[in-house]
Amino acid sequence: MVRLSYRSPKTEVRESKIHGRGLFATADIDKDEIVAVKGGHIVTREFLRREITPKLGAVEIQIDDDLFIAPVTEEERELSMLYSNHSCDANLGVRGEITFVAMRDIRAGQELTHDWAMTDDDDYSMECKCGAPNCRRILTGKDWQRPELQKRYAGYFSAYLARKIARLDSQSPTQA
Ligand SMILES: C[S@@+](CC[C@H](N)C(=O)[O-])C[C@H]1O[C@@H](n2cnc3c(N)ncnc32)[C@H](O)[C@@H]1O
Ligand SMILES: [Zn+2]
Repeated sequence: MVRLSYRSPKTEVRESKIHGRGLFATADIDKDEIVAVKGGHIVTREFLRREITPKLGAVEIQIDDDLFIAPVTEEERELSMLYSNHSCDANLGVRGEITFVAMRDIRAGQELTHDWAMTDDDDYSMECKCGAPNCRRILTGKDWQRPELQKRYAGYFSAYLARKIARLDSQSPTQA
């Protein structure tokens, strides 16, 4: 079967201290190099919650307010998974909506992680196990609204969230 997602040949999937399996660099990766591209079906939140999550778990990437990209069948799961765990000190960012790039130079052996604040606008709240010194402990689907994260991940938010942030910025009162 042909893979649905792309993972750079400089990556491998193996056991992670954060959770289950994670994605790791097997060679040095330069800032802004493509690390992975998510593939799958484009589905609504309702379809995701009804048909996919109960069967396959957390396998999706959010790409717009009510759109997600995900595998739909058990057979597609392994072909679509990126295995990038969440970290509050992420080294991957998003280009467009489905392409994950290095936000900084990454050394061989490091785990490749993104911050769900870069992709998600949802209503969940969960405990973070990333272990980073700057861990925010509780992750929510509204973390993209946090000013410090907007600043830290500028240029690396999913395009649909970058548009929302730009809209909010243009509505806020101008500084005197
Ligand atoms: C797409 S999977 C990532 C791959 C996953 N480690 C695996 O082995 O299948 C996303 C799931 O990993 C777990 N996860 C990833 N990062 C996490 C973190 N920082 N803290 C707690 N759970 C995390 C959560 O259960 C989440 O629903
Ligand atoms: Zn964390």
